[in-house]
Amino acid sequence: NWTTTNVVEEQVALIREQVGDKRAICGLSGGVDSAVAAALVQKAIGSQLTCVYVDHGLMRKGETEQVEKDFVAATGAKLKVVDAEKRFLDALAGVSDPEQKRKIIGREFIRVFEQAQLEILQEEGPEVAFLVQGTLYPDVVESGGGTGTANIKSHHNVGGLPDDIEFQLVEPLRQLFKDEVRMVGQELGLPEEIVQRQPFPGPGLGIRIVGEVTKDRLDLLREADAIAREELTAAGLDRDIWQCPVVLLADVRSVGVQGDGRTYGHPIVLRPVSSEDAMTADWSRLPYETLARISTRITNEVADVNRVVLDVTSKPPGTIEWE
Ligand code: XMP
Repeated sequence: NWTTTNVVEEQVALIREQVGDKRAICGLSGGVDSAVAAALVQKAIGSQLTCVYVDHGLMRKGETEQVEKDFVAATGAKLKVVDAEKRFLDALAGVSDPEQKRKIIGREFIRVFEQAQLEILQEEGPEVAFLVQGTLYPDVVESGGGTGTANIKSHHNVGGLPDDIEFQLVEPLRQLFKDEVRMVGQELGLPEEIVQRQPFPGPGLGIRIVGEVTKDRLDLLREADAIAREELTAAGLDRDIWQCPVVLLADVRSVGVQGDGRTYGHPIVLRPVSSEDAMTADWSRLPYETLARISTRITNEVADVNRVVLDVTSKPPGTIEWE
């Protein structure tokens, strides 16, 4: 019979058997799946696991700290954090096109992650043979079911490593659906903010700034997003909405009036949606009072934002994200 305790015990035994006395690496994204996969493997093989978190500087307020502090406190996992903010911002400088941004972020991410893998190999030796991935059952079905290996190439010229390293994959969530993954995460003692986290795109806030991505704009968007999330949580709406992207229209300015004078600031877009699987979505009919609180707080508390607008487009024709 299916209980989270059984799942955990069964997976821990399987992981121990698969990994043996070798070592494993797990990339953490800040999301539920990688965190639960890592926590399971950590429970199974302890210090034979090294987790890697690439801080691309595009996360929301508090999310990096959640991984660095709360995840580590809950699991005791060994974590290597790579601060790559400057590298990502440099690569994104001058770029406004959404597809271009996605390509750059994806490319830099792989480079930084591979570099971290090579460093761990150098530190820990050739016993590092496994790569943990948070593949879920729907992903398995979608991709035809095979399990596999991952290649990395040492084209960054970190001395003394073989040209090609092949990792075996450890995928402890392959039989689970998302809600089951959350239950397993809870059983493993992961913080609520990680276990109940709503979907957040890999390219992060980089695709929620319409226009060029800069540090100042990211900081501004982080403040606005934090306010929206805080108010949605306070209103008890987290379970009603699928997610609520908060978008900065950095290339748009409009005239406003605040305090003593005229302002010329940017609009923030709220994009709350309800959905089953993100393939289609409807805009969430949020209570006016909540929308009013979010709007008042953002325009009062975030400099350079003088307007908050609500996206009332379903998907299709709109996508959930703006880029
Ligand atoms: P769209 O905008 O296509 O988004 O309606 C559908 C869902 O996917 C998320 N999303 C992403 N997730 N990497 C991700 O891991 C991405 O590049 C990406 N783009 C969109 C989005 O947040 C929504 O849940």
